Amino acid sequence: MPKIGNIELPDFPLLLAPMEDVSDPPFRALCKEQGADVVYTEFISSEGLIRDAAKSVLKLDIYEKERPVGIQIFGAELDSMLQAVDIVEQSNPDIIDINFGCPVKKVVCKNAGAGILRDIPLMVKLTEEIVKRTKLPVTVKTRLGWDSNSIKIVEVAERLQDVGIMAISIHGRTRVQMYKGEADWRPIAEVKNNQRMQIPVFGNGDVDTPEAAAKMRDEFGLDGAMIGRASIGYPWFFKEVKHYFETGKHLDPPTMPERVDAARRHLQMAIDWKGEKLGVFETRRHYTNYFKGIPHFKEYRTKMVTSDDAVDVFAAFDEVLEKFGDFQFA
Ligand SMILES: Cc1cc2nc3c(=O)[nH]c(=O)nc-3n(C[C@H](O)[C@H](O)[C@H](O)COP(=O)(O)O)c2cc1C
Repeated sequence: MPKIGNIELPDFPLLLAPMEDVSDPPFRALCKEQGADVVYTEFISSEGLIRDAAKSVLKLDIYEKERPVGIQIFGAELDSMLQAVDIVEQSNPDIIDINFGCPVKKVVCKNAGAGILRDIPLMVKLTEEIVKRTKLPVTVKTRLGWDSNSIKIVEVAERLQDVGIMAISIHGRTRVQMYKGEADWRPIAEVKNNQRMQIPVFGNGDVDTPEAAAKMRDEFGLDGAMIGRASIGYPWFFKEVKHYFETGKHLDPPTMPERVDAARRHLQMAIDWKGEKLGVFETRRHYTNYFKGIPHFKEYRTKMVTSDDAVDVFAAFDEVLEKFGDFQFA
């Protein structure tokens, strides 16, 4: 069974990917309930944390019920990253994750995120110092390389292991690819097949069906799957994959009452956590997926995503349940 440091995980664990503006405490809690074995926060700027920027600090909040949870940080300045580690530790996460994969220009141009894939010695050095700074297990999330001509992930993963990381998650795309094309899991399998690798190697990118997860496990031999987009507004994905692993069959999709219940609880947790205004606003992006596939739904969706008042949104949920309670999802 794979382990991250002392954290014991089930066979082929499913990890909720860090996702900006998505992987917040309410969403992580729902994913955990539905079978995610490890959850990660969205990335948090080391510079923001040390400036005590309120938005960055809010992202450090974790609920007990979501453990084990990793807090992900990004940056390229050693000093800021180390100070950020000290701040992150005060939130008592189970894991500290370093983001070496974000492809966004404003991150990359400062050499952070996937930008660091152009400077492997700096990537290794930063990692080494972070590992030394904390007693918590450190994990890394990265991509295959900067571009298709510079894929050195086998060597990179081994060097990161040698400086003490406890697991690596690899998104099967290069920085240049951004999110285009298909994720290529073959180089991730090469990392796993490297005889010197001892730590878990988790695959990421395009795991969007239970079959894809099974393929990552059975054909590519990876230690677990990190799941991002397939879970947005669909925390049931984790349970569906696990059911498929156990039975070889597909679980029935969640019913309307289950979806409405999840949407309600999601909104309520978000309000309790951030207050009504932000809670209402930030939960909106999940509703489309919660209620995907229902014909003539626009009117109700509009109600959910346009009102600033939680009472109206809860009323819209009640209305949806009343009107579409028996709807059969495909
Ligand atoms: C909305 C969104 C936000 C993301 N934010 C982060 C982030 O904060 N940190 C990170 O390492 N990756 C981030 N990613 C990348 C995902 O973690 C993941 O690597 C990518 O979506 C591929 O996996 P998937 O095909 O399962 O979605 C983000 C992806 C999406 C779609």
